[in-house]
Amino acid sequence: MSETRRKIMRVLDGETLTPPPVWLMRQAGRYLPEYRETRAKAGSFLDLCYSPDHAVEVTLQPIRRYGFDAAILFSDILVVPDAMKRNVRFAEGHGPEMDPIDETGIAGLDGEGVVDYLQPVLETVKRLRNELPSETTLLGFCGAPWTVATYMIAGHGTPDQAPARLFAYKHPRAFEHLLMLLADVSADYLVAQIDAGADAVQIFDSWAGVLGEREFEAFAIRPVARMIASIRARRPQARIIAFAKGAGYLLKTYRQKTGADAIGLDWSVPLAFAAELQKDGPVQGNLDPMRVVAGGRSLEEGIDDILQALGNGPLIFNLGHGITPQADPENVRLLVERVRATGAV
Ligand code: CP3
Repeated sequence: MSETRRKIMRVLDGETLTPPPVWLMRQAGRYLPEYRETRAKAGSFLDLCYSPDHAVEVTLQPIRRYGFDAAILFSDILVVPDAMKRNVRFAEGHGPEMDPIDETGIAGLDGEGVVDYLQPVLETVKRLRNELPSETTLLGFCGAPWTVATYMIAGHGTPDQAPARLFAYKHPRAFEHLLMLLADVSADYLVAQIDAGADAVQIFDSWAGVLGEREFEAFAIRPVARMIASIRARRPQARIIAFAKGAGYLLKTYRQKTGADAIGLDWSVPLAFAAELQKDGPVQGNLDPMRVVAGGRSLEEGIDDILQALGNGPLIFNLGHGITPQADPENVRLLVERVRATGAV
């Protein structure tokens, strides 16, 4: 059994593999011509997320091309507020938008029915587990409460999440209620993804880095710790990766206090500190996505530095954030080849 166990699951259990397994955040996306083709057929971005036929297809596209060790469910973190009736839309060239929420709106929010509404996404997970090669790990995901709340409050993306930070200072009780509600529905949603066939799940806290120290504890650590405890109480076998982008030196206590099995690292985390973090458990990351756009020597150097610093411990090779639309698909092929050829240096 242990040799046939999927590689990423083995690393999540603390094993060191040489070469390390590899997948990339946003590996299904606009840098791939076949994605753009399916996306055009599907209509809107949310139609793509809620169409199991199309969502399965785009999830499999990067697996067929590159043979990544994990497939990540194709969906978005903002399907949760969509299921909470916040009228989420992705207008072309605008990024996500939704109806901004205030104190009254928060008091009227209802977590009932969220998992039911997301049945098409769960159907995608079920079909993927049947269609993927048996060695490929299937990852489910959701957004962390803080990151999802930032979009719910502003109603759109912002450079520094000032609207959500301000709201949290001015209306602490309403904000706390929003975070806890999001933590509870998100935990239920991840349990449902695991039951549908996800091997492991990742929690994306992409905006953790804009928080002050006290707020990081209250808004990033506490709700994610609550989610993980709730998932583990129900599904003790669940494996959980938590990605708190920009958390820097707080990542050590982040892992300890949230109880995540593995932590995702963005490219600003120094490799010597990453190696310290790896003593406490598996890490995932952390190549700058711009190195995949640049290619050539900068791509090779970035990969080699990570393998050298982290290749002798439990590592899932990944980017430090999502791949961007300008990335050359050929550079992704070179990345996978180099990680697999070099292994631990
Ligand atoms: O990793 C994967 O391949 C799985 C799919 C996935 C998407 N979004 C698809 C997507 C995942 C895991 C996400 C997570 C997500 N979505 C996050 C957290 C991770 C991160 O990148 O910070 C956030 C903050 C969002 C919200 C979101 N969705 C934004 C801000 C945008 C617009 C920016 C952009 O890149 O266009 C999206 C849209 C989105 N989500 C696209 C994709 C492939 C592009 C939409 C399109 O095809 O037009």
